[in-house]
Amino acid sequence: MANVSLNNVYKSFGKTEVIHGISCDIKDGEFIVILGPSGCGKSTVLRMIAGLEVITEGEITIEGKVVNRLEPADRDIAMVFQNYALYPHMTVYKNMAYGLKIRRMPKSEIEKRVQKAAEILELTEFLERKPRQLSGGQRQRVAMGRCIVREPKVFLFDEPLSNLDAKLRVQMRLELRNLHETLGITSVYVTHDQVEAMTLGDRLVIMDDGYVEQIGTPLEVYERPATRFVAGFIGSPAMNFLNVRVSSDGASVEIPGGVHLPIENGNLPEYADKEVALGIRPEHFELAEEQQGDMSLNVDHVEVLGADTLVHGHFGEDKSSLTIRLSDIQHFEKNTILPLNVPPSKLHLFDSQSGTRLGK
Ligand SMILES: Nc1ncnc2c1ncn2[C@@H]1O[C@H](COP(=O)(O)OP(=O)(O)OP(=O)(O)O)[C@@H](O)[C@H]1O
Ligand SMILES: [Mg+2]
Repeated sequence: MANVSLNNVYKSFGKTEVIHGISCDIKDGEFIVILGPSGCGKSTVLRMIAGLEVITEGEITIEGKVVNRLEPADRDIAMVFQNYALYPHMTVYKNMAYGLKIRRMPKSEIEKRVQKAAEILELTEFLERKPRQLSGGQRQRVAMGRCIVREPKVFLFDEPLSNLDAKLRVQMRLELRNLHETLGITSVYVTHDQVEAMTLGDRLVIMDDGYVEQIGTPLEVYERPATRFVAGFIGSPAMNFLNVRVSSDGASVEIPGGVHLPIENGNLPEYADKEVALGIRPEHFELAEEQQGDMSLNVDHVEVLGADTLVHGHFGEDKSSLTIRLSDIQHFEKNTILPLNVPPSKLHLFDSQSGTRLGK
């Protein structure tokens, strides 16, 4: 059982606080992805779990035991970095065996573990090669192998795939997920790539500026973003946001053009006649019949992506810009007027000031 808990953890560098009290319970065997923009504190959180950074305040536990003062080597954790730095003069075998050797593990046990890891990672035929004789993906697998042989309680990954090209990243992503399903070791994986996060994580921890914005499964954060930040961060192209007014009975919002869209997930009487932020994902608009539709989009330009089409345009008196995604190939001239419907179940509403989600 290697569950990991962060309880109200703070981190300051000098006088600057960069992590402002975050909490998260990671279950045994879970694959958690920490996702957020550059500089939000992802690596710092990971390094605190590893013991490479001192915690300013709060508590981190592994298997229920507080590890705040435990040295990295005593935490039974293995970490894979973006820059995986293999020893260039050692063979693949020796690179993988090295950590065990300095721990004075018997040779036969080292042999057994390296062979097993090599088999899982399909590196058996490369064991006698030097790192420079390997591709980027193979090197990354050796770095992974170095961690696997230690049979740690927890794996930590800090953007391990960001040095690889796009195709290799996709392949390694699948391999990582398979590896996790084979080994079942509790994993915390840091990335700023939302596709990586959505495909790898059992749950995501979405961070911004040293705060946790939301913790949830990939589907939860997509379907029910807890804040406007999460709503805008998850999904590509990004969610559209409009400033809209709530009706005086709190049961609908008025979009530019005058149409009222019902608020399906509960009335907002406390927001009657107030402005809120309305979010709609590009993929949730539907083309309507001519002269009908909740809104009319004036087409600016169209991007045909192959499988689908992005239409960028504007609408309403203030020419709010809007992007929609259609799941087939369509061509429209500039200035075409497209009537659109918005399914009421696909509306997201957020407080204009705090950015917190409103309604269900
Ligand atoms: N040793 C340090 N001394 C002072 N400030 C630091 C130190 N390490 C990190 N920081 C600051 O803490 C904040 C969080 O940094 P961190 O490296 O955790 O971000 P990150 O989310 O991993 O970003 P990236 O995606 O760019 O790797 C940043 O503002 C950074 O400048
Ligand atoms: Mg980082």
